[in-house]
Amino acid sequence: MTVPVLTIDGPSGSGKGTAARRVAGELGYHLLDSGALYRLTALAAARRGIELSDQAAVAGVAADLDVRFAGDDDGEGRVFLGGDDVTLAIRSEEAGAGASTVAAQPAVREALLGLQRSFREAPGLVADGRDMGTVVFPDAGLKVFLTASAEERANRRYKQLKDKGIDVSLAALSRAIEDRDRRDSERETAPLRPADDARILDSSAMSIETVVETVLGWAREA
Ligand code: C5P
Repeated sequence: MTVPVLTIDGPSGSGKGTAARRVAGELGYHLLDSGALYRLTALAAARRGIELSDQAAVAGVAADLDVRFAGDDDGEGRVFLGGDDVTLAIRSEEAGAGASTVAAQPAVREALLGLQRSFREAPGLVADGRDMGTVVFPDAGLKVFLTASAEERANRRYKQLKDKGIDVSLAALSRAIEDRDRRDSERETAPLRPADDARILDSSAMSIETVVETVLGWAREA
């Protein structure tokens, strides 16, 4: 029997990371945060002094990424590169921009395919990203495309950063989000778009609880 997969794709700030983690927790499934793999690739390349424009070298880094995901007490999960805890390092805006640069490189996407598919283990997987339903797991039993207006996504990110005591301007954040959306949607390889058989969920006016309940409801139907 094939192991069930539920994919959640969408733009940054749509809440898919949180939704995916909670849905996986409720179902007792494994979780794949595919964005973390692109962030790790960019970080590992930088640490080895490799220019992100050196596509062959970056693909080499992606192909032998020494990554480990581990649970922790607050349920957020920790990420290790080699033996190093890089949970915070990969969350910076810089790592996000680096991720979106290497993510546009076909050789990098190809190099990460096998690693992503290896997360599909019993009893099931929730996979979060941009192309989980279109490229990595086209046979997923349920595909969700989670969106929210650009304005709402910028507001959420702004609140998150403010809560952490980080001072940013809302206007600058909106611009950064729009830039990243454009790069992710306009690239030639695996652009951000809903799979033909995806269910679209606009979370602009929804609490995260409602998002999770809706996805769980669809998962039970599927
Ligand atoms: O989801 P997250 O913000 O961590 O992703 C970082 C970047 O990695 C995205 O902006 C996107 O360019 C890239 N990405 C991707 N395909 C995925 C997941 C992330 O291209 N499946």
